Amino acid sequence: MTTRVTKAVIPAAGLGTRFLPATKAIPKEMIPLVDKPAIQYVVEEAVAVGLTDILIITGRNKSAIDDYFDRTPELERHLEAGSKKEELEQVQAIADLADIHFVRQGEARGLGHAVGVARRHVGDDPFAVLLGDDIMDPEVGVLAGMVRAFGERGSSVLAIRRVPQDQVCLYGSAAVEAVPGEESLVRIRDIVEKPDPAEAPSDLAVMGRYVLTPAIFDEIDRTVPGRGGEIQLTDAIRSLLAKQEVYGYTFSEGRFDVGNKLDYLRATVELALAREDLGPAFRGWLVDYLGRS
Ligand code: G1P
Repeated sequence: MTTRVTKAVIPAAGLGTRFLPATKAIPKEMIPLVDKPAIQYVVEEAVAVGLTDILIITGRNKSAIDDYFDRTPELERHLEAGSKKEELEQVQAIADLADIHFVRQGEARGLGHAVGVARRHVGDDPFAVLLGDDIMDPEVGVLAGMVRAFGERGSSVLAIRRVPQDQVCLYGSAAVEAVPGEESLVRIRDIVEKPDPAEAPSDLAVMGRYVLTPAIFDEIDRTVPGRGGEIQLTDAIRSLLAKQEVYGYTFSEGRFDVGNKLDYLRATVELALAREDLGPAFRGWLVDYLGRS
């Protein structure tokens, strides 16, 4: 197995029930943040750290995602004829972002199962998993740090962050120990999917970024349905722990859970404020608006 990571898997087959009613007709991954669908931020984050072979796991009612990353000759001709150079470049750049592949999950049987569907494409290579609900500020460099750590250690790395006690039950929760000489990297001792508060190993929660060795696929195959009756990636990682080291990459800021409506609004505002073209005018309006209300 190489320690150079070039493949990314983006599970996008979920039903999006946390974002109803919009997700009744639109895949949650296609809900825009400012002017780009959420999944584009995730693809761009992967590409920015050299993961240019991207597999998106889709399911029923997700064809808008395939369409989005496809070429659009008719639209391109229209923009060309209208001399809309900037728009044309934007539209073409989406299809040229990366080498994007699609596979369907068939049945929504959980995150572990969705990742398992990637086996044939990933083969014997290490790969990253990026969950579309988690949007990361690329400036913070979490995925870059994880890929670097994988290169140094050749072991799986999970993104982890401290969360308030009352939120531990929403995540994979990890028991960790320090690694001498490392600041961001810890060794994972145990991991439990969405534990009851009394059983939580710690307040360190797994966020939606993983760099995994291909050994995870055998563990997924052996994993029986767990929390929520679903095949959980966390449970497969727990079995992997018995065979290989697994590390946690700790970080503290720059993550939005855009499946959550309040966090979605925060992400929209912060991303808009950070934009060179829209930020200054939006800030001016926002300050004025808040002053009035
Ligand atoms: C999934 C994982 C969970 C992880 C979380 C991060 O849960 O199962 O371990 O902590 O993503 O966002 P979900 O939020 O899809 O229920």
